[in-house]
Parts: sequence; structure tokens; C-alpha cells
Amino acid sequence: MNKSSLSASNGPIALVIFGVTGDLTKRKLLPAIYQMLLEKQIGDPIHIIGFARRPWDTQIMKDTLIDGIQKYARVKPIKVEVIEALFDGVHYVQSSFEEEDGYRQLNNYIDENGYKKILYYLATPPLAYKTIIENLSDCRFNSNKKEWLRIVVEKPFGVDLESAIDLEKSLHSCFEEDQIFRIDHYLGKETVQNILVFRFANGIFEPLWNKQYVDHVQITVAETVGVGSRAGYFDKSGVIRDMFANHMLQLLTLTAMEAPYAFNASSVRDEKMKVLRSLRPLKGDMALENTIRAQYERSMNSVEKVTGYLEEDRVLSGSITETYLAAKINIDNWRWANVPFFLRSGKMLPNRATEIAIQFKQVPLSLFNWKNMAGDAPNVLVIRLQPDEGINLSFGAKKPGPTNQISPVVMEFCYEDAFGAAPPEAYERLLLDCLQGDQTLFTRNDEVLEQWRFVSGIIKAWEKNPVKKLPQYPAGTWGPIEAQNFIKNSGASWREPS
Ligand code: BG6
Repeated sequence: MNKSSLSASNGPIALVIFGVTGDLTKRKLLPAIYQMLLEKQIGDPIHIIGFARRPWDTQIMKDTLIDGIQKYARVKPIKVEVIEALFDGVHYVQSSFEEEDGYRQLNNYIDENGYKKILYYLATPPLAYKTIIENLSDCRFNSNKKEWLRIVVEKPFGVDLESAIDLEKSLHSCFEEDQIFRIDHYLGKETVQNILVFRFANGIFEPLWNKQYVDHVQITVAETVGVGSRAGYFDKSGVIRDMFANHMLQLLTLTAMEAPYAFNASSVRDEKMKVLRSLRPLKGDMALENTIRAQYERSMNSVEKVTGYLEEDRVLSGSITETYLAAKINIDNWRWANVPFFLRSGKMLPNRATEIAIQFKQVPLSLFNWKNMAGDAPNVLVIRLQPDEGINLSFGAKKPGPTNQISPVVMEFCYEDAFGAAPPEAYERLLLDCLQGDQTLFTRNDEVLEQWRFVSGIIKAWEKNPVKKLPQYPAGTWGPIEAQNFIKNSGASWREPS
């Protein structure tokens, strides 16, 4: 690398990516950094230092990452001058994650080039996290010469409470909490951030946002994809570890939290923590009664052949890992007492849709022959997180004609129509915040542990009461019949987001 370019600048940032050869770097990280440079969001140059096992060299790394940007960049055509600036200071360290020598090479390189701002990014399989962090603790000797030093960790943060505590111990043996950025990419989604803006920048919704007016809340993360090439990982995780212990609970906290005293990392995260602490524990029979698990099976109706979960490669024979999970969760605090939150997430559902639906209560007395059932009450506020990002509010209107017939109609806000462009990728915002040291959109250690504490109760109850086979649902349908009955018993019905 050309040293003069370093001294001429305001001081480049060294972005050290462990596992640079993996998919995450190519598909998400580099396209996001490219976009940040394109939009001139960051003043300092960024120098990418890759660290991985594969026998690559700097040129191969550069070519592969450029190829990734060309394929996955959000805005095309690609600007050559931005690519040139981005790859001005690249370097590849080839080493296994266990080898001390690799870290020595890395440290020497960092020292020789006088980097004072360093972001370590763990884009590796989670099993490698501890080894890397422990090896990095050796670089603390020169951390006082740095302007800043931060680390980014991708979910999953452990596989249960014990392993999460263990990972946290390693992280804290080397870094302070304000240096640790735990990524839950859902928090980087523009629409997820908008939940707080919608709630706390507008005066008209918040007075209704409580048990007086809300009948129940449905949070859905529906995916049309199966587990495919990730089957080996997924079979050990299931929806509970893959989606519930992080993304789903984060959506729940943002929906349910109180207004923070300011929009900064500590006050937002303090409020989210209060929600997590108020979750009614789901343990033993309570866990069994309030959760429904299922697996997708080969679909007879589908045009293309869809493999059932149990037939996927690398799924253990007789596996009881869930590809669908629905849960009824209660938040025991004054705002939400007795308002059920129904959460569900599944693979191979009919539509890709992530949404939060606030179902408001029925009017106290029905004058217009509206069915007296909250599930059918007309007022539903739906925050559509993806795709087709937006918000809609349904209400009842009189159908034109001589009789008093009511029809549900919808008021609609669509991001793309309102702002002229689809929202940016989550990683663009998250990486920018890491570089600027803003932790508001990152999960704090106490949140991670509290999330695990909650889901561990459920996992333990399932383990204590093993089943031979999970209910099945044909791929391309909205889950098993058991899930329909489950919500019906609470007087509601699942939405079918289109
Ligand atoms: C990941 C999960 O965290 O989120 C995947 O590991 C899931 O299983 C993905 O498919 C969903 O993310 P998105 O942004 O596509 O909703």
C-alpha cells in the first residue's frame, strides 16, 4: 500500500474483516461500503484488510470483492472512481483463526501503516468468534495509541444462555462495552427504525398504544425460502434461535417500549431492556401451551417441486427442528397487561412479508351490525417492514347504498411513493454507525442475555417434553392447522399478508 496516501488523508480507517472470503462480505459488507463512499457519507478513506484461511492473495481478494460490488450494489452502474478509492489500501492476511502468526502479521501491518482507527469485523462462522477474540486480546498492548478501536459481532451471539454468557466474557476480556457492536441486521432496516419515529414523533398514535385500545398485536416474519444450503446450520438452530431470540424479540421491544428520555444509545436500549424484563416467562407447561412448532413438508400443489424439510440435505433424519414457530407472549407491565402479542415466523410460507399489526379493539357497542369480535374489528394499523415498505390503517366506511353496510377501507403510506426511492440496505446504516461510534441500533449485552433467558425457558420445556414428530404444513401455506386453532382460542385470527 502506498504510505503517502495515508499521511495525506485525515487518517484512514482500517476495516479488518475476519472471514473476508465468505458470502457476507461479498454480498452485504462491500456493497454497503461502496454505497457509503458513493454518497460521501464518510470523510475518511477506508482500507480493507482481509483475514481468512483460504489461500488467496490481495489481488484475488480485490477482484472477488469488486465482482461482489458489481453484482450486489444497490445503485448501478458502478462508478470506477469510487471503486478505485475503495481499493486504494487493501491487504490480505492468509491465516487460520488459531494461528498466532497471522495475528502478528496483522498487528505489524496495522502498526507499520500507523492506523489509528480500527474496526474489526467478525464475518466468520460463530464457532470462530471466541478464538479470534482471544487472539485479538494480544493487540491490546497498543490500543492506547489508537483514536478508536471497535469490534462488530454478527448474530448468533451464542446458541443458548450459557454460551452467550461465555461469549460475552471473551468479548469483555478484550473490549469495553462501548467498543462492541452486536449486529441484529433488522435494526438497520429503515422501516424498523421508523417504528420509533412513527410512535414518538407523532402525537396521535401514542395515546392509543396501550391496553385500553389495543386488542392484540401480531408480529409476522414470513419467508418464502426454505433452508436450502443452510440446512446444516438451521437444523441445529430452528426458528427459535435463528429468528425469535433476536429479530422477533427486537421487533417486539420496539413496538412495546416506553418513550426514551432522548434518542441515544443508552436510553433507547434501557427502554428495550425494560420490555424484555417484563416478558412473562414461558417455561414448562406455559411454554408448551403458548408455542406451536411445525415443519414444512413437500407440497403437492406447487408447480415446482419443493423439497420437504426432512428431505433437505444435511437435515438429521427424524429431526424435530421447527421451520415454523408461533408464540403467544404477554408483557406484564401497566401498558400491556393482558394484551397478547402473537409472534410467528416460518420458512416456505406463501409470501415474503414482515409486518407488525396492531389490532385495535371493537367499539363498545356495535350499531352497524359489525360482528362483535375483536379479530374482525375494522381498525388495524399495519407497519409493513418488508417488502413493499409502508404503513396502512384500516377502518370501516359506509358502503354506498341504502343499507348501513360497512366495508373495511385502507389509508396507505408507501415509502417508495412518498420518498421516491426504496429504503437503503440495513448494512449501509449499520456500518456507518459503527464507523461513527453510534450504538443505538446495536444490541447491548444485557439485551442479548435477557433474550436468551426468555427463549431458553421455551427450549428447555421442549427438550423436557420431546415429541416424535412435529406438525407438518405443506410448503407454500400459512403454517399448520394447529397454529390456526392456537390463535382462535384467544379470539383472534392470523392475518394473511399479501
Ligand atoms: C437471518 C436468518 O438472520 O435473517 C435467516 O439467519 C433469515 O434465516 C434472515 O432468512 C431474514 O432476513 P431478511 O432481512 O431477509 O428478512
